[in-house]
Amino acid sequence: MVKKGLNENKFENSQCLTGENGTFHLSLVKKGLNENKFENSQCLTGENGTFHLSLVKKGLNEKVQSNVIRIALTKGRLEKKATELFEKAGFDMTPLRERGRQLVARIDGGLEIVIAKPPDVLTYVEHGVCDIGIVGKDTILEYGGKYFEVLDLGFGKCRFSLAVKKGADFYSGYGVKTVATKYSNITRHFFESKGMDVDIVKIEGSVELAPLLGLAGGIVDLVETGSTLHENGLEEVEEIVSISARVIVNTVSMKLKKQRLDEIIGRIEENL
Ligand code: PRP
Repeated sequence: MVKKGLNENKFENSQCLTGENGTFHLSLVKKGLNENKFENSQCLTGENGTFHLSLVKKGLNEKVQSNVIRIALTKGRLEKKATELFEKAGFDMTPLRERGRQLVARIDGGLEIVIAKPPDVLTYVEHGVCDIGIVGKDTILEYGGKYFEVLDLGFGKCRFSLAVKKGADFYSGYGVKTVATKYSNITRHFFESKGMDVDIVKIEGSVELAPLLGLAGGIVDLVETGSTLHENGLEEVEEIVSISARVIVNTVSMKLKKQRLDEIIGRIEENL
């Protein structure tokens, strides 16, 4: 029994009305709904005047049921090292190496690799759209978040340092010092731990320019080989913290997919 005009105007795939013990099941799928956003739409069940519609969002079902582990991998320097590590662990990373402009690569063995900017790796893992993240400790310290940090990969090694123009004495005088950085939180914590009040200027690009232009007396930045500082007439004054690449895991995945995660992270750890 379908109300005249109802089906042709608004619904498609209307299926049997089944009456049983006063209940009935009606499968109606609103036009366009299924093809746009959902798959496996299932019956509207009417019982005592209530209705239940079972819709499964496209893509969701596939991920939950197929036990795919999705990994967010930091674009750039860590991407190269992590790719080599996965290869050492026996994964064929050709789809990632040959992905062109594609942002997702499917790897045999039930992995899906997503390439992302560092803060986005944290966001994807925290929100559970990725199970695992590979990201620098610098990003973890700067942005924080809720996830488990489970493994130090030992590559992507560098340090946060305070640097100044060669020969300058950052700590001399009583005036409030100005420090330029991309990492305001790390910088604030560092100077707070010294009980020092500083003005922090947030820079997005090459922080090394700030002392050269007279914008700041010092910078807090990542130092790997030290050549960027050296070539720009700057020098390290103090090391703040050492950094390396870490594996982080979504808190829910850690419970629901423990076996698969243990297996994958175990394979990686064995090949470090
Ligand atoms: C980082 C950092 C320094 C440089 C240090 O920048 O901000 O500029 O590396 O490396 P070095 O001690 O080996 O010279 P990166 O090249 O990652 O680019 P970014 O400025 O986009 O962060």
